[in-house]
Amino acid sequence: MLMSYIDQEKIKEIRDAADIVEIISNYVSLTPRGKNYFGICPFHDDNNPSMSVNRDKKIYKCFSCGATGTVFKFVMDYENISFIEAVKKVADSAGINIDIGNIPKLKNHSKLYEIYNLSLKFYTNNINTSAGKEAREYLKARGINDDIIKEFQIGLALDDKDSLSKLLFKKFDEKSIMKSGLVNKNTYGFLDLFYGRIMFPLYDLKGNVVAYSGRIYNREDKSKYFNTWETEIFKKGELLYNYHRAKDSARLNNQIIVMEGFMDVIRAYSIGITNVVATMGTAVTKEQAILIKKMAKEVILCFDGDDAGAHATMACADELIAIGVIPKIIALKDGLDPDEYIMKNGDEFKNLIKNTMNVMDFKLNYLKKGKNLNNTIDEAQFVSEAIKEIKKINDDILRELTIKKIVNETGLDEGILRSKLGNNKVKMPKVKPKPKIKMNKYEMAERNLIYYMLRYPEVIKIYNTKVTYMPTEEYRFLAREIKMFYNEYGFIKEADLIDYVECDEDIVKTISKIEEADLKENYSNEEIDDYIKTIKDYNVKNEINRLTANMKKELDPLKKAEIAQKIIDLKKESTNV
Ligand code: CTP
Ligand code: MN
Repeated sequence: MLMSYIDQEKIKEIRDAADIVEIISNYVSLTPRGKNYFGICPFHDDNNPSMSVNRDKKIYKCFSCGATGTVFKFVMDYENISFIEAVKKVADSAGINIDIGNIPKLKNHSKLYEIYNLSLKFYTNNINTSAGKEAREYLKARGINDDIIKEFQIGLALDDKDSLSKLLFKKFDEKSIMKSGLVNKNTYGFLDLFYGRIMFPLYDLKGNVVAYSGRIYNREDKSKYFNTWETEIFKKGELLYNYHRAKDSARLNNQIIVMEGFMDVIRAYSIGITNVVATMGTAVTKEQAILIKKMAKEVILCFDGDDAGAHATMACADELIAIGVIPKIIALKDGLDPDEYIMKNGDEFKNLIKNTMNVMDFKLNYLKKGKNLNNTIDEAQFVSEAIKEIKKINDDILRELTIKKIVNETGLDEGILRSKLGNNKVKMPKVKPKPKIKMNKYEMAERNLIYYMLRYPEVIKIYNTKVTYMPTEEYRFLAREIKMFYNEYGFIKEADLIDYVECDEDIVKTISKIEEADLKENYSNEEIDDYIKTIKDYNVKNEINRLTANMKKELDPLKKAEIAQKIIDLKKESTNV
């Protein structure tokens, strides 16, 4: 059974005290319709309100992607935190006190995290030693004070090339150390990946240190920054720098500012801006765009003020627009990056946040660059590129405003422009009809039986006495949990069961699949008997196949006969069940 750190009674108490509608409303806006509330599901790309929340059942469900669960599961998936952390969070907002002590890390990569924790201690200590004097001076010259060094856990890799390796080998095995990506092996032995660099820890979504970016500060090197390579726990495209620190503040402000570099983020902190993350200089991936979308309604892109930054802004805006987010833009001048701008202008930066540019204006300016609109060829090219951009937008008002602007700027006939655009507003992907899951009759019987087990204790009892074994693994696991839950509490309810298994991803998926069966509410005994018979038949058939194979292999004639008899018995049984 899954280990529980809080007892079920307490979990139930918290779930009952917390209004699921209210809590989910903190994350996505919900509109009442009939008995349910509807909103846009945050767990897949969508612009339609496919997610329903049922206050009485205390469950949410997305009809498009199938995401389902209790309030804990929602908070857990939305915030990328563990079950226990989600329980704690919901309890807090419901005003219930719980003491869950230290949250244990349920991870199979725990050694890698330990290695990173130790390296972090080492690096952050180094910077405070005499060997760190120059690094501290470098940071100071860049306006990074001790508080910021502490907050962002900035450290130092020493000039020698193996002090970290030596330290790690005292505590960890070679295999784990090599997996961490912090140590290289060559013919002479083990070498640190980083030396003579100021170390900026990179965090996963939960705030664990999972990698570093190291910056040179006292020597020449072809790469200014150098990162840990990707490991089991570090996938650059799935992270945003500072996500774990920024998410609450982003939610409170209903605004998230996206920058390119972590130095930009750190600088923003120095003037009290905390709702900020960095993409860390690579093309924004779809995963990152979805993370950004989840953080806040208002998204502001503030990339570097050079050509590369403008290009990155266009690309990031497109990823966001594709998932229904229309970002606002801060376009810095003179090639400055946010770090440099804030160093120069300080709090003035806050005015830029209040005076953002709309994304289409930014795009039109970008497209105009290097073109002479008095030149017909340039102008034609501009218009056709602008049309492409307009077609991406699914916001009527913004489209209209942009069309008007182009007409004004170019003097192009509005009718012609509109005919070029066609009526084909971007069609948002319709909710795809879910592919019908092909099920054989045995699986169907298992599924239907569990469907009623999730509703009626009597069916669980019948299952307990008559079925020994569910052939399909996922159903077998679920049936076992249902059985254990019922034995312990004497009732059955979907929400309780989901929390009982601590929102275990696989089990919740299976439950969701079963709920899709949407069978009639009441069962008849004949139906249940029929499911059970089908399952038993299947098990017997499998057993017969197994024995037949064994019999073929068996050389001893006596044993062969024994098996044959067993098979005959089983065959009889299968006609009698
Ligand atoms: N980056 C990287 N690898 C590099 C260069 C850059 O991962 N070789 C990432 C870093 O995460 C950095 C971001 O890209 O934060 C932005 O890079 P850049 O604009 O070159 O750095 P700055 O933020 O301007 O850093 P600094 O001010 O220290 O020069
Ligand atoms: Mn910079």
